[in-house]
Amino acid sequence: MGKFEEVFQQSIGNPEAFWGEAAKEITWFKEFEKVLDDSNPPFYRWFQGGKMNTCYNAVDRHVANGRADQTAIIYDSPVTKTIKKISYKQLLDQVSTFAGGLADLGVGKGDTVVIYMPMVPEAAIAMLACARLGAVHSVVFGGFAPHELAIRIDHAQPKILITASGAIEGAKTLEYKPLVDSAIEQSTHIVDKVVLFQRDFVSASMIDGRDYDWNELMANSKPVDCVELDATDPLYILYTSGTTGMPKGVLRDNGGHAVALNWTMKNLYNINPGEVWWSASDVGWVVGHSYIVYAPLIQGATTVFYEGKPIGTPDAGAFWRVISEHKVKCLFTAPTAFRAIKKEDPKGELFAKYDTSCFDCLYLAGERTDPDTLHWAEDLIGVPVIDHWWQTETGWAIVGNCRGIEELPVKEGSPTKPMPGWDVKIVDDEGEELSAGTEGNIVVKLPLPPGTLVTLWRNEERFVKSYMTKFPGYYETSDGGYMDEDGYVYVMGRMDDVINVAGHRLSTGAMEEIISNHPDVAECAVFGANDSLKGQLPVGFFVVKAGVTRSGEEIKDELVKMVRESIGPIACFRDACQVPRLPKTRSGKILRGTMRAIANNKEYKMPSTIDDPAILDEITETLTKMGYVKK
Ligand code: COA
Ligand code: AMP
Repeated sequence: MGKFEEVFQQSIGNPEAFWGEAAKEITWFKEFEKVLDDSNPPFYRWFQGGKMNTCYNAVDRHVANGRADQTAIIYDSPVTKTIKKISYKQLLDQVSTFAGGLADLGVGKGDTVVIYMPMVPEAAIAMLACARLGAVHSVVFGGFAPHELAIRIDHAQPKILITASGAIEGAKTLEYKPLVDSAIEQSTHIVDKVVLFQRDFVSASMIDGRDYDWNELMANSKPVDCVELDATDPLYILYTSGTTGMPKGVLRDNGGHAVALNWTMKNLYNINPGEVWWSASDVGWVVGHSYIVYAPLIQGATTVFYEGKPIGTPDAGAFWRVISEHKVKCLFTAPTAFRAIKKEDPKGELFAKYDTSCFDCLYLAGERTDPDTLHWAEDLIGVPVIDHWWQTETGWAIVGNCRGIEELPVKEGSPTKPMPGWDVKIVDDEGEELSAGTEGNIVVKLPLPPGTLVTLWRNEERFVKSYMTKFPGYYETSDGGYMDEDGYVYVMGRMDDVINVAGHRLSTGAMEEIISNHPDVAECAVFGANDSLKGQLPVGFFVVKAGVTRSGEEIKDELVKMVRESIGPIACFRDACQVPRLPKTRSGKILRGTMRAIANNKEYKMPSTIDDPAILDEITETLTKMGYVKK
């Protein structure tokens, strides 16, 4: 048995011993009494009775243990032409002082705080300050429009909102403050305190009595200590797209999260404390939470905070420049970033300009790594390229290649094998396990390992219904795929209405809800079509109400504008077409999966319950005209 197999079997055979051992790497104020409380499935609790604080583990303990002068955060911002290094000691000063400021504003244990910020270190400082106080943060990605921010404000009901005056997105300067003000106006929950971080290039006006300036707050506050928390207390809520317009508030605890993330740094990513790690994502996504902020800091590594793009800031050599300049050992990003670099610099000429001898491995996730991108990256950079599969819900990888334990051979199209702690099965719709090579639902036997979702915030019913009901005793991932004879997992894509656009998880259901608000639209369907750069792009079909005579093109432009204004530019909803009718089952269910298959040139079975098969011919013709169906 290889080393990896041995570790994997230990984790599945005796999870309590396995994670109990991993927990020794975390600083506990009081040792836990039980590693796993499984008395109330599917609500499992890790490290019950343990007292700790995530911020203490990510900051204070490193200052106490000889890392005070080590760089904790390297802020590299080509868009503002800034490079700044923050040591663990400086981070402690800033986080503890900002926590003092938040406490003065009335934030305490159990309060929620919404953070809407670009990729500046102040975003991490705000998150860690909340963790220090036991307040529950909810970071909202800056690419979401006010309507989406308002939905999250109403659900999270924050005591306070933390934001910045703006961001530079590629070549565009964006003002955040009008977006935040509009979201607060749209929400029914009253936000009466806003902390604003003013940036040099865009100054935002303040509302008297409501808005507090970040720098003034810091200047007038005293540092505070970490609050002693239960391991099972909540750390953060992260909203993620489900199948409807109401996102799911994934809830993470403190203890299990710290133990699991710390374990992954060495065992999965082969990073040691003191080494430089870079996750080129955004704090608004789970990758940003886990691998820009929490995991590297808890482990005592140095994390790069990059405010830029893979291309255009200033060119497709940006990633190589950052790796070389900061001696980055490993980079984690989405395949779409590499496809963008490949498109701009197909021969990789910019790569040769930099000394990247420090670079050890590239990790990709967020969407499937297509073989072309895999091989292009491998050939260019000459280090392993490792795909791994995970979700906002899971917080860390379900399937991966544990380079810190034993590097397994890479097979194209597969993120390798189930990670320690993850008992992955492929089952049919009735829950029967399928043989090697047969595609089905990817599920995970309960209990999930630590660090995964504890529940959905203020919605236990949706948690049970969405993840734990269809296959009792298992977590339903909503991804489909298969396992080969060697136990390698192949993830083939979502089985629901979630799509992945440039590594951004979006709901086609949410887009449909917006489109159906158009006064001329009777019904509509949105589904994902494959795209060679962004992985998937949304495509919409709409049927107009009787008597509407306006042109379909005109209505389409209005729909595009509506989605952009409601969800945000990241939805990339640009293509829609009027159709006379939509294909449905006899009971009236729209056949989105069949339309998706046609658009993606995949074979499909004529649904036995289809009401009128002729409509599929019309749809095929329309998708051919739109350029999706290749003859
Ligand atoms: N704030 C505001 N707007 C944003 C934004 C943000 N944080 N991020 C993206 N947008 C905007 C873009 O400016 C663009 O607007 P436009 O329609 O006016 O041009 C739109 O949203 C679409 O953005 P995107 O899909 O990112 O396309 P792009 O052409 O700007 O960039 C890539 C393409 C591939 C370079 C970029 O998507 C990328 O770097 N992806 C990596 C994804 C990633 O890190 N995912 C996290 C999971 S690991
Ligand atoms: P998110 O919650 O934003 O991380 O998106 C999770 C979804 O992205 C998963 O359910 C998958 O559909 C997809 N995904 C993430 N990583 C991979 C990967 N390595 N291979 C295939 N799909 C992936």
